Amino acid sequence: MTSVLSSPSPSRTPERTATRRHYLMCPPEHFAVTYAINPWMRPEVPVDRDLALAQWDALRRTYLDLGHRVDLLDPVPGLPDMVYAANGATVVDGIVLGARFRHPERADEAPAHLEWFRTAGFRRLVEPEFVNEGEGDLLVAGPPGDTVILAGTGFRTDPRAHSEAATALGRPVVALELVDPRYYHLDTAVAVLDDTTIAWLPEAFSPASQEVLRARYPDALVADPADAAVLGLNAVSDGEHVVLPAQATGLAAALAERGFTPVPVDLSELLKGGGGPKCCTLEVRS
Ligand code: ARG
Repeated sequence: MTSVLSSPSPSRTPERTATRRHYLMCPPEHFAVTYAINPWMRPEVPVDRDLALAQWDALRRTYLDLGHRVDLLDPVPGLPDMVYAANGATVVDGIVLGARFRHPERADEAPAHLEWFRTAGFRRLVEPEFVNEGEGDLLVAGPPGDTVILAGTGFRTDPRAHSEAATALGRPVVALELVDPRYYHLDTAVAVLDDTTIAWLPEAFSPASQEVLRARYPDALVADPADAAVLGLNAVSDGEHVVLPAQATGLAAALAERGFTPVPVDLSELLKGGGGPKCCTLEVRS
């Protein structure tokens, strides 16, 4: 084997740098698909809860192996979607903006999240007036000191929640309109990869919002529709490693080409509820 260590870099592939993250996750102990609030959910198709738990645990261990911290939220019986912890809050600089769910089936998840943060010692908690589904639709992007909130609307989060989030979290908001019901949350159509890079599916957005994202991210990675259709964009990046659905093989290759390290995970059971790795992962930014 010859060593490549001393050879000059063959291309201009950028160096990527990971930063340690803090995540909140909720085990799918009560996971089920008993109602349909997005086109992925089909209550007539059985789910294997043990498999869901095993896949979820592999995701949790992936984060630990990457050096991240993972805290756990106690699952509540009767809240089958609670495994999708990303929807329960948005946390920036230790400020916790609670969620307010569009559908009554998920309403009780919001106070459970706020209670977790209260118990964990967070003091600045904001209960929202308008519907926002946490990091499902509110994605923190940009370098420290210049972060914005990419804010989705169209299916779940109320546009009035955007200014509420801007005020609560002290960050400007970039409003983006989703138009394809399969990509009902922003985190199914955009992955924030690092301070300046996103991957996205243009077709999931209104023409005006496509323009907004093209202007802001001229070098964005444009996902193949086939990768988006397995929720490949529902990915979690630490700036270097990108944890994404194993089925999104084209996206994994494109990420590697850009110097990221794809980390595939199989969450096929949780896809039956309409979620992937990012949906299961709430980032705690203290
Ligand atoms: N069944 C859940 C719902 O429709 C899935 C949520 C997925 N979460 C996400 N962050 N996209 O609300």
